[in-house]
Amino acid sequence: VRKFSVAVVGATGAVGIEMIRILEQRCFPVSDLRLFASARSKGRRLPFRNRRLVVEELSPEKLEGMEIGLFSAGSAVSKAVAPVAARNGMVVIDNTSAFRMDPGTPLVVPEVNPHAIARHRGIIANPNCATIQMVVALKPLRDAFGIKRIIVTTFQSVSGAGLRAMNELERQSAAVLAHKRYPPDIFPHQIAFNAIPQIPQSDAFLPDGFTGEETKIIDETRKILEDGSLRICATCVRIPVFRAHSESVTVETREMPDVAKARRLLAKAPGVVLMDDPSSQKYPMPATVAGYARRNASTGD
Ligand SMILES: NC(=O)c1ccc[n+]([C@@H]2O[C@H](COP(=O)([O-])OP(=O)(O)OC[C@H]3O[C@@H](n4cnc5c(N)ncnc54)[C@H](OP(=O)(O)O)[C@@H]3O)[C@@H](O)[C@H]2O)c1
Repeated sequence: VRKFSVAVVGATGAVGIEMIRILEQRCFPVSDLRLFASARSKGRRLPFRNRRLVVEELSPEKLEGMEIGLFSAGSAVSKAVAPVAARNGMVVIDNTSAFRMDPGTPLVVPEVNPHAIARHRGIIANPNCATIQMVVALKPLRDAFGIKRIIVTTFQSVSGAGLRAMNELERQSAAVLAHKRYPPDIFPHQIAFNAIPQIPQSDAFLPDGFTGEETKIIDETRKILEDGSLRICATCVRIPVFRAHSESVTVETREMPDVAKARRLLAKAPGVVLMDDPSSQKYPMPATVAGYARRNASTGD
């Protein structure tokens, strides 16, 4: 098996840590794994395959000669470093918003539009998390019935805002229960026992009234499904859950859908697990879904 040298950029973050775990869990053919973050994390050690790898401070020249880069250190870092790395021959899988809407950069969800990868020129963008999970579930329905309009409301966990946001929810929840004050820091309001309709938490609403996250879902879904005329309305809400985003998606199809067929298609669609038996109180919830892929890795689910 051909093995690849892999760099994880943003290795100490909420996303980077998951990337390292998944490389290990999926037995990705890695010849050499190098971990990068900012100067703050230089020298930290993170586990990978029974070893503890040292985190290095990122600089573009350290990536020279490496083959694959998994970038997740924010869009400013990606904008500064990914094009240089790509010019030096690295294939960058960029998890930030830096290049998603760049017409020359494919925006890929493997279960939905793997063909788009062929057009890459060194950078392959990975969509926003709320977009990915929606299009994976929409793909079989789109293929069978066509899609005219989507109305989506998200219930997003704090993991999407990074590790510091997860810490804020944990500490603030404990403080609220102890009747102590814990002023918001990452979020604009108290997140514990609350719901905040502003994602990202640091960005103002746009002139059209949508937030950045809502705009990402709308634009990215159109790009991935290759349908610029798709009508989409999105409302994104942050809720006090640690991991796993939930979404309510209402879809208007082009053809009259057949519910039994839709269920069958979803049950066998790649990346989808159908949990739909309300009579026995079986439906997806963050508490049962978080870590699901990891727990079921050995069964191939
Ligand atoms: N969380 C999600 O579910 C999610 C989903 C999709 C996309 N994303 C995107 O992925 C990126 C990271 O998200 P996250 O949730 O993992 O954030 P996070 O937990 O705050 O981690 C940020 C990571 O970036 C590193 N970093 C920050 N500034 C850097 C710099 N100047 N040079 C090198 N490394 C730097 C940090 O290193 P230090 O430890 O040294 O600070 C850390 O490893 C963001 O762009 C986010 O929008 C996140």
